[in-house]
Amino acid sequence: MTHTTPKHVQPITLVIFGASGDLTRRKLIPALYVLYKQKLLPPALKIVGTARRPLSDEAFRQQMEEGIRAFSRIKPQPGEPELKAFLSLLYYIALPGGEGDYRQLREKLDSLYAAEASETLPDSRLYYLATPPEAFWPIISNLGKAGLITPVDDPQRWTRVIIEKPFGRDLQSARELNQKIHTVLDERQVFRIDHYLGKETVQNIMAFRFGNSIFEPLWNRRYVDHVQITVAEKVPVGRRAGYYDKAGALRDMVQNHLMQLLALTAMEPPASFQDKAVRDEKVKVLKALQIMTPEQVAKFTVRGQYTAGVIDGQPVPAYQDEPGVAKGSRTETYVALKLFVDNWRWSGVPFYLRTGKALKMRLSEINIVYTRPPLALFKHEWHHGHVEGDQILPNRLTLRIQPDEGIRLRFGLKVPGPEMILHPQEMEFCYSKVFNAEPPEAYERLILDAILGDSTLFIRQDEVEASWEFVDAIIAAWQEQLDLPIHPYAPGSWGPEAADRLMERDGRHWIPEDQHSGQNEPRKG
Ligand SMILES: NC(=O)c1ccc[n+]([C@@H]2O[C@H](COP(=O)([O-])OP(=O)(O)OC[C@H]3O[C@@H](n4cnc5c(N)ncnc54)[C@H](OP(=O)(O)O)[C@@H]3O)[C@@H](O)[C@H]2O)c1
Repeated sequence: MTHTTPKHVQPITLVIFGASGDLTRRKLIPALYVLYKQKLLPPALKIVGTARRPLSDEAFRQQMEEGIRAFSRIKPQPGEPELKAFLSLLYYIALPGGEGDYRQLREKLDSLYAAEASETLPDSRLYYLATPPEAFWPIISNLGKAGLITPVDDPQRWTRVIIEKPFGRDLQSARELNQKIHTVLDERQVFRIDHYLGKETVQNIMAFRFGNSIFEPLWNRRYVDHVQITVAEKVPVGRRAGYYDKAGALRDMVQNHLMQLLALTAMEPPASFQDKAVRDEKVKVLKALQIMTPEQVAKFTVRGQYTAGVIDGQPVPAYQDEPGVAKGSRTETYVALKLFVDNWRWSGVPFYLRTGKALKMRLSEINIVYTRPPLALFKHEWHHGHVEGDQILPNRLTLRIQPDEGIRLRFGLKVPGPEMILHPQEMEFCYSKVFNAEPPEAYERLILDAILGDSTLFIRQDEVEASWEFVDAIIAAWQEQLDLPIHPYAPGSWGPEAADRLMERDGRHWIPEDQHSGQNEPRKG
């Protein structure tokens, strides 16, 4: 896995499907603009947007300029020449449907470089599928039929395809999509994106674990009591309700983002940072997940759905009343799970995962909670100035993915005074303070990696299928056991109380809210 300035002499065309959509305007084009500004893009690059609706090049440029101004991590300066130069790389072609369109697309792509006498090499092509998932296969199939996909071993030019999530809606549909895709593309040409993997702090999980020698020896069942992975969203379902109601939190978040975080947390050290080595280790974890029996699903999973309420003074309608949600919907907007990774390192260590919408705060965090020392020699204060007894607070390592990206390690310190009382304290690394900068957007990294041909941070076919296999067993059990409850929870809460009981039954608890702040407050009292 490298991150170098590209040294391409070869021209590259990036074709974005779904270019009139939200993702393109909010994320993809702003990311490309930042890469352009940082001179990380190949010098000969053109970006062609497509969607079904008609749009002129000018109108497309105008919309993308608005997107850059509103959402770019680095804002354009008034009248800056780079923005104008970047926008001049953008083109648009409407593809309302059918194979004939793709012949037009081919002509347009072929003509783009023909006008430039300086370009004697053929352009390589990166296709970005930022459309609804039902369009993925028709687009790839049409690209194939129009001769727009070169063989994987073509020495002159490459073809790569980035595919957005969701990749399938269960194991069977993911397999079918993979099989169809492989009739046109080699797996090495397929880049399934999970933007979580592009986040700096997610890559830092590997750097932290495998670039330091003091943590890895403790990273196993002998020292780790349990692991918690939280991906909480504060926003309710909003404009995606139509899609979300057919998916739910398990499909929308757990199958991809949480499974990837779990894989990076639990994987064995790879032999190298080559894409194959890293992905081989990740898939081993996903294949080692204990597939739940229906009885385990009843015991180890908690579903929730938000009711009407208020977040930050703004009314939030009940999920059931969101436009696009089916009447009486049983779709979960919250899920908590307890699962096990059946391998030598993790046998018997529970992993607790939770994710949901309309929760108290936006938070993505991994917590490694260590076992307690074997003997309680000291008293401990759990809260400032309040001695709770000799229950020892375990050491805890927190990997914060968003917001306030960073790492924290909790340990006990002696409180000054005559008594031997321990106070929990945290050592903290905060990304923005240490590097004096906000981390780059995930899409910047991932688009650049795809241009460079590095698939380490993309999901391989076997990873997708292994995580669907795990998720499918849960969905099947939910569908069979209709009496399993879907617990209501208030917007702005941490989800249903039943999720707390999932932990309490094991004598554990979710990391309390006041400990997510990462603040080392001075002791009072
Ligand atoms: N928005 C995000 O933050 C986000 C985050 C992660 C992943 N994603 C994924 O990214 C993809 C796009 O999301 P989005 O939020 O940008 O959706 P969106 O705003 O609804 O845009 C969808 C785009 O696809 C085009 N489109 C729709 N149906 C099509 C079809 N049958 N064939 C070709 N083009 C079609 C639309 O334009 P026309 O109607 O003109 O064709 C539009 O440009 C989805 O797979 C989504 O799951 C989005």
